[in-house]
Amino acid sequence: MATIKSVLHETRVFPPDGGFVQQANLSGMEAYRALCSEAEQDPEGFWGRLAREHILWREPFSRVLDESAHPFFKWFEDGVLNVSFNCLDRHLASQPDKVALIFEADDGRVTRCTYRDLHERVCRLANGLRSLGVASGDRIVIYMPMCIEAVVAMQACARIGVTHSVVFGGFSAKSLHERIRDAGAVAVVTADEQYRGGRTNHLKTAVDEAIALGGLETLRSVVVYRRGPGDIRWEAGRDVWWQDLVGNQEVVCEPEWVGAEHPLFTLYTSGSTGKPKGVQHSSAGYLLGSVLSMKWVFDYKPDDVFWCTADVGWVTGHSYVTYGPLAVGATQVIFEGIPTYPDAGRFWKIIQDHRVTTFYTAPTAIRSLIKNGPDRPKEYDLSSLRLLGSVGEPINPEAWMWYYTVVGQSRCPVVDTWWQTETGSHMIAPLPGAIPLKPGSCTLPLPGIAAAIVDEAGQDIENGKGGFLVIKRPFPYQARTLWGDPERFRDTYFPRELGGYYLAGDSAHRDEDGYFWIMGRADDVLNVSGHRLGTMEIESALVANPLVAEAAVVGRPDDIRGEAIVAFVVLKGERPQGEEAGRIAAELRNWVSREIGPIARPEEIRFGDNLPKTRSGKIMRRLLRTLAQGGEITQDVSTLENPAILEQLKQSAA
Ligand code: WT7
Repeated sequence: MATIKSVLHETRVFPPDGGFVQQANLSGMEAYRALCSEAEQDPEGFWGRLAREHILWREPFSRVLDESAHPFFKWFEDGVLNVSFNCLDRHLASQPDKVALIFEADDGRVTRCTYRDLHERVCRLANGLRSLGVASGDRIVIYMPMCIEAVVAMQACARIGVTHSVVFGGFSAKSLHERIRDAGAVAVVTADEQYRGGRTNHLKTAVDEAIALGGLETLRSVVVYRRGPGDIRWEAGRDVWWQDLVGNQEVVCEPEWVGAEHPLFTLYTSGSTGKPKGVQHSSAGYLLGSVLSMKWVFDYKPDDVFWCTADVGWVTGHSYVTYGPLAVGATQVIFEGIPTYPDAGRFWKIIQDHRVTTFYTAPTAIRSLIKNGPDRPKEYDLSSLRLLGSVGEPINPEAWMWYYTVVGQSRCPVVDTWWQTETGSHMIAPLPGAIPLKPGSCTLPLPGIAAAIVDEAGQDIENGKGGFLVIKRPFPYQARTLWGDPERFRDTYFPRELGGYYLAGDSAHRDEDGYFWIMGRADDVLNVSGHRLGTMEIESALVANPLVAEAAVVGRPDDIRGEAIVAFVVLKGERPQGEEAGRIAAELRNWVSREIGPIARPEEIRFGDNLPKTRSGKIMRRLLRTLAQGGEITQDVSTLENPAILEQLKQSAA
């Protein structure tokens, strides 16, 4: 598999395929350049035009951008709209019977839902939530499996002006608790069970555990979607079955008309401190980004069958499951299971069965499927595919080539999309009918996105040299703040030294054609299987264990997952040896799983009497990174307080 270095040297170019160019929404480099220059010459005119063309407004806006409170930008501020109206009602007259969602459950059962059905389900739940006393401005936490109801729950919140905060079903009760508390949620919407890879996960039980941790004063109701027949613990007065709640509700629900800046959702993501941050998005600006990228990057056409494999617990599942595809009126597949169950042909079978045209997944999934059956896709009819997408982490050229030639049969452009929870939707990505592709590069910024690479002082860096990826100008779909923590928002993303640019947290470089190559995070954030995890977050979880005195966590390059988690741990007692070390390591792994979630489980734990520190007591992480990779320390260690510790940590893998 390629390391970052080999990614940097790959330069094969794939010009847009002729067949694709003819049908593309944006064909030819000139179309791309024209939009870019429109945006450069008059950014507000550009975004204002697009917002008027792509959003249905209840009340039009009179001003495009207010940057007086930089970096707390306001877009289209006096405009009034409803996002759910833009996703559902707008299609009711033109295509009520078009299938909106094709849901395939873990066990293979398929359920379809038309735009009319979906509208009705959303309205019923929205009315049900109102009957519980939930009102515009309140927050609801959604802790659901991938299913039609997860989309319904999010849309129902949007319909009544409630800010949702979806927590990925794989997060632990403890993580859930932290997020419910931080959001001050009045209700949790969940399901009794989730099924993945033949296994059952008891979501409602985790909600009960979260509540039992205490301190959730704002929480009044738990709405539970019933899937399984089993008995579950029930708290009368607080818990209500979804099916009972929606049973007698009206099938129409007047949307709550909200201002453009009304917070549509917050989504917690990891940063470089121990505490996850609630990234807050707007209504209109966010929606605009999702719609534009559906049309530009995914080249959306009415006959498409779109499938984004992301869970709604991540931002990808917000923009490319719940909002973007519905806003453009697409038919999409949603899938509850995992790519390797019942076997590694599952994704290809789903594409074949539902005639998927546009397939969007993560490099980790692609790499694991290559490993599990490089020729598997050939056993299926994948002729419906016309476009492939990648997201979440850098895709190495080998995986890109396999995706392109084996899955896409050298017909389908691959759009490698760089963006983040904080940017809401695509930022740097090829427009498939216009921009030549280079495997491993996310290519060029979308029109209106002023991406650049700078040094510590915010000065532009010449092509070919690595630096910090920044966005120089505001854009409508960027996050507005961190929930309850505006200072942290400013300090993290708009550091003074960079002169007001948005700091993405990634390092990158541009090649001689101006193409962007993302090299990975420039901060203490790991990317494991496309999931973002803060090293401090895992360290805090480890030191919360009574056995642990100190811990330092680093990433190690991993062929399948991108990065693997390696933890260096100092116990309060003696450094464990042999079998005991193995036993304690296993215990600590499970501990982290329970504290954060299975995605944060360290791959490897090494015990030492101490950690390598400078004389001022700072842990030298770069040395730990070298050790984790099994490399020789060639760096200068003269500032180290305790150089002997390196030898011990090198040998103590458990
Ligand atoms: C981080 C954001 C974007 C939605 C899913 C992840 C990395 C994302 C790419 C890409 C290289 C990528 C970056 C970024 N990343 N897409 N195409 N190529 N790296 O959202 O959890 O907010 O993570 O994912 O490091 O900063 P997220």
